[in-house]
Amino acid sequence: MSYQGYQQLLVEQQGKLLVVKFNNPKKKNAINRFTYQEMTRVLTEVNDDESVSLVVFTGVGDIFTAGNDLTQSANSDDLDAFFKQSNATFKAMVLSFVNCKKIVFALVNGPAIGIGATIVGLSDVAWCSETAYFHTPFTKLGLVPEGGSSYMLPLILGRSKASETLLLSEPLSAQEAYQFNFVSRIFKASQLDSVVWPKLRQYSELPQNSLLQGKRLVKEGFLENLLKANEAECKQLLLQFQHSEFAQAIIDFASRKTKSKL
Ligand code: COA
Repeated sequence: MSYQGYQQLLVEQQGKLLVVKFNNPKKKNAINRFTYQEMTRVLTEVNDDESVSLVVFTGVGDIFTAGNDLTQSANSDDLDAFFKQSNATFKAMVLSFVNCKKIVFALVNGPAIGIGATIVGLSDVAWCSETAYFHTPFTKLGLVPEGGSSYMLPLILGRSKASETLLLSEPLSAQEAYQFNFVSRIFKASQLDSVVWPKLRQYSELPQNSLLQGKRLVKEGFLENLLKANEAECKQLLLQFQHSEFAQAIIDFASRKTKSKL
């Protein structure tokens, strides 16, 4: 497998590691519908690639990702069709995460917002840098939890902290993320080359079949509920996209800099 033709993501195989980087630094690594398609593609392609055992998601620069690209709908002349298409693309991406057979590792190098935070809950293992935080401002945007988070976050964080995060839009600091088992380690940027990458390379050399079978068994405990959550969330998200609260949030985002100068 050569992992060619990716435009939105930087995809590079390093031994048995497949390193996938969000790569949209001008927009803080925001994820647009083409990025979602590429995420689906890479997570599907890797399933058939025996030379890779671990997929690492990280971001270029000092941010993991600012989440969904909030400027995408501005140029669309058929918003209903745009939202339907975006919803289907998004749902497929979440499914590809859930169905990935290889170990998926979230190496959260900085702030993780929206889908950036919820894919951490979908990953098998997550480590974050000291500078990371996790923010799901769904209700501020007139949206609802997505990326399976309505099921995974209460499971991982406990209901109260998950609701604080998902419903009340409170960010989780790196320390809180560690305390509430959202990540299993916090690393310093200075340890990336000396500790983090060598450790990931070491993990990727573990026996492949055993990794695959072990992951499958761990996932069996929650797979059905996670799939149901993705279905229900996407159904509701489509309604939220068409609601005036979301339209207002998009206008507010687009005009926030002009407003702050007034
Ligand atoms: N969608 C589209 N563009 C985005 C974006 C997003 N989610 N996040 C950041 N950008 C763009 C900004 O509009 C800005 O573009 P400009 O230079 O043309 O004005 C550029 O990225 C830099 O962002 P800026 O806000 O100036 O950087 P910052 O360091 O002050 O703040 C964030 C960084 C990530 C905290 C802030 O940009 C933010 O809150 N983004 C929105 C996050 C969000 O709500 N995501 C959706 C979750 S569902």
